[in-house]
Amino acid sequence: MKTKLWQLLFLLVIILCTTGLGASMSIAIDKSNVKQGDNVNEIGKEIYLENCSECHIPLPPSVLPTESWREILENPDNHYGLQLKNINRLTQVLMWRYFQSNSRRLNLDEAIPSLVSQSRYFRAFHPKVEFSENVTHQTCIACHPNAKDFDYLTLTPEWENSP
Ligand code: HEC
Ligand code: HEC
Repeated sequence: MKTKLWQLLFLLVIILCTTGLGASMSIAIDKSNVKQGDNVNEIGKEIYLENCSECHIPLPPSVLPTESWREILENPDNHYGLQLKNINRLTQVLMWRYFQSNSRRLNLDEAIPSLVSQSRYFRAFHPKVEFSENVTHQTCIACHPNAKDFDYLTLTPEWENSP
């Protein structure tokens, strides 16, 4: 995992060099073509998995709106009462790119959820499931046995076989 991250960071340096270091990083990333965009996303994903799966399983970006991820990334000093270490400007920017491309925005008048249990995007993925208020990152595993490996497609046999 660690080696892979370094390979990806190396790749990022190459991408930034080939897209012109004169420009600021965000401009360089924005103007890069689709393939480079994919690579930047991949790096963001690796950084996310590396930094955010130490205390709880990594949640899929799509279950919360973009605005929620933004609030999380902008407040590493108050993460549900804890302080997140190892978050710096570079890892923030790369994770932000990844979350932005893999989540949806809210409508303007909607409150920003900080928990999956409050997120309509989370519920939209589960048309057949009735959830209690208490659904959290700790309960995913009851139906998604490989959630800790970031696999939300595999379901427990009971759900796999449900019509
Ligand atoms: C130091 C431990 C720690 C790290 C590292 C950490 N978190 Fe958390 N996270 C928590 C705690 C504690 C909660 C509150 C829920 C709980 O009590 O388990 C939480 C909750 C969350 C939730 C809401 C989960 C839910 O059940 O609705 C999200 C989303 C989240 N974290 C994202 C992240 C992201 C993104 C990162 C990396 C940038 C991260 N976390 C890194 C400790 C951590
Ligand atoms: C009670 C069982 C159950 C729990 C708990 C549960 N899920 Fe699911 N999940 C499902 C089922 C079943 C599906 C397939 C869609 C459907 O039939 O509703 C699904 C689908 C998904 C999908 C869509 C996968 C895809 O790409 O097609 C995501 C993402 C997801 N769940 C995330 C989560 C997360 C994150 C948690 C924990 C916060 C969670 N689920 C908790 C049962 C559950």
